[in-house]
Amino acid sequence: MKILVTGGSGFIGSNFIRYWMKKYSGDKIINLDALTYAGNLENLKEVENNPNYKFIKGDICDIKLVNDLVKGVDLIVHFAAESHVDRSIADSEDFIKTNIEGTRVLLDAAKNNGGIRFHHISTDEVFGSLGLADPAFNEKTPYDPRSPYSASKAAADHLVRAYFHTHKLPITISNCSNNYGPYQFLEKLIPLFITNLIEGKKVPVYGDGKNIRDWIFVDDHNAGVDAIIQKGTIGETYCLGGGNELTNIEITKKIIELMGASEEVIEYVKDRKGHDLRYAMDYSKIKNELGWKPKINFNEGLAKTVDWYKNNSDWWQKIKSGEYKKYYEKQYE
Ligand code: NAD
Ligand code: DAU
Repeated sequence: MKILVTGGSGFIGSNFIRYWMKKYSGDKIINLDALTYAGNLENLKEVENNPNYKFIKGDICDIKLVNDLVKGVDLIVHFAAESHVDRSIADSEDFIKTNIEGTRVLLDAAKNNGGIRFHHISTDEVFGSLGLADPAFNEKTPYDPRSPYSASKAAADHLVRAYFHTHKLPITISNCSNNYGPYQFLEKLIPLFITNLIEGKKVPVYGDGKNIRDWIFVDDHNAGVDAIIQKGTIGETYCLGGGNELTNIEITKKIIELMGASEEVIEYVKDRKGHDLRYAMDYSKIKNELGWKPKINFNEGLAKTVDWYKNNSDWWQKIKSGEYKKYYEKQYE
């Protein structure tokens, strides 16, 4: 198979490419990535010389480039996105461009070049925010996005479905919960807190720390995407989750314990605007229909992730840059 992966130089996409090339070593992968602040060529150093891997620096909104690249491709796996909620609160422009228009450009290229199989990577955030006693989100939960990020992802999901219904484009969608693992950009909770503690800094917990997320190790997410690509029903959406609902303060304390630090490092800071209270995923559809379930125990996955950041300080020290701080300060103006 020849596969076009978009956003393959980011966190989940780079883990996907490594996963896929190990498991399906005869497949050819083209990675189209614009290398925004979140894209990093170092994420894929170990495959960069593999003859079956090719990197193209480019924007998914570039119609001509995308149209040329999809020729001869059997499958598009679409990860590329602006992915950070806080950035979408500060400025949503790039989110609308990349997440909505970029998806539209890819869908048209897939449609106009023979109807290429298209897997779209989405998020649990499109479903909104759960109360503490609500049942977990599932594929039938109505969409209720509440941040510019989740609204842009919801719009993309609707477009993908529309191309299935209108143009019979062979699509599938996965909506996944919060990922963690190696190569995650430092603005996200888990890598930010681990690296702050390595550097002897405090960890900024938003609000009262009682917001809940459902955490999944990145390889489990990518194994779910693999199952959908191989066995999923065309036109269908699948919810993926880790079955690990934790409050932010619970996660923070686990990281502190693993790092051998004291809870004095916790700094409660101003809450995120419109902060969703709780996400949880009911993944019974993919479990029953495709036999997928998350395998990695959260405590083991977190310990592995802590070790990875401890052993890869070269990778993350380069990222702790002025640009990151500038955005961070803006959030708390
Ligand atoms: P990330 O921010 O780490 O990586 C995004 C990648 O997309 C980067 O390499 C970036 O350079 C690239 N990119 C951005 N704009 C582009 C453009 N216009 N053209 C080409 N490339 C572009 O994101 P991530 O956390 O790896 O998330 C990947 C996908 O998974 C996103 O679609 C996100 O919505 C979805 N998702 C993420 C999570 C999570 O917990 N991180 C959970 C569920 C779904
Ligand atoms: O649910 C899936 C989503 O998970 C993905 O679609 C997004 O791309 C991804 O960024 C992630 O979104 P979150 O907003 O849930 O992740 P983040 O790591 O930014 O925050 C996790 C929780 O921790 C959230 O409740 C906000 C809180 N938080 C975050 C940061 C960065 C803090 O308390 N302090 C922080 O410094």
